[in-house]
Amino acid sequence: MTLRKPAETAAPVHELIRERWSPRAFTPKPVPQQAVLAMFEAARWAASASNEQPWHYIVAPREDTAAFERAVDCLAAGNQGWAKNAGLLVFTVARLTRGNGEPYRHALHDMGLASAQLTFQAMASGLMVHQMAGIDGNKIRTFYKVPEGYDPVTGIAIGYQADSSTLPEDRQKQEAAPRQRKPLAGMVFAGEFGKTAPLIA
Ligand SMILES: Cc1cc2nc3c(=O)[nH]c(=O)nc-3n(C[C@H](O)[C@H](O)[C@H](O)COP(=O)(O)O)c2cc1C
Repeated sequence: MTLRKPAETAAPVHELIRERWSPRAFTPKPVPQQAVLAMFEAARWAASASNEQPWHYIVAPREDTAAFERAVDCLAAGNQGWAKNAGLLVFTVARLTRGNGEPYRHALHDMGLASAQLTFQAMASGLMVHQMAGIDGNKIRTFYKVPEGYDPVTGIAIGYQADSSTLPEDRQKQEAAPRQRKPLAGMVFAGEFGKTAPLIA
């Protein structure tokens, strides 16, 4: 049995949103090519400022052992132990300038937006997704020859969720911990920053 941690929501939300969470227990099994293609198509069709599409992805499927091991090596030590069981490791790389050479202030926003679409498309294929800030950006830059003006942003572990008992004990506790969020009241304002919107209260 894989662990479910459905979001407790103030209003009904789409099943994919309710069921999304970031597991660390993955089954070391490849992700079918059709599912991989679908998730990057989903990312490609995200919105972006002036349609700049700053997003780039570097993929390492586990069936390509050398590429996969190289990708694991580009993760922070704390992520390597569990992410090595994912079916697919991905690094996101954002272009930091606009087509006209101006700084692209929303590049990371748009990169994240594309990756959110990737996440839900992956879930629609029965996969789970765990994003990681814990990456070695310098290693990624060197290994994958990321050019100037582009920045590695995150790593993403994608795969089939495994039973939590496959994790070491301390990780099992972390895996079972309840999901927490700040209240909506401190997030949605009207009239003035900090004033909770009446429709939320
Ligand atoms: C940009 C980003 C970076 C993250 N970095 C890491 C990470 O390096 N290691 C890790 O185990 N989880 C990481 N996470 C997962 C978060 O800790 C997780 O999304 C958060 O605790 C909320 O839990 P949930 O996704 O299960 O709802 C990251 C998530 C995001 C979106």
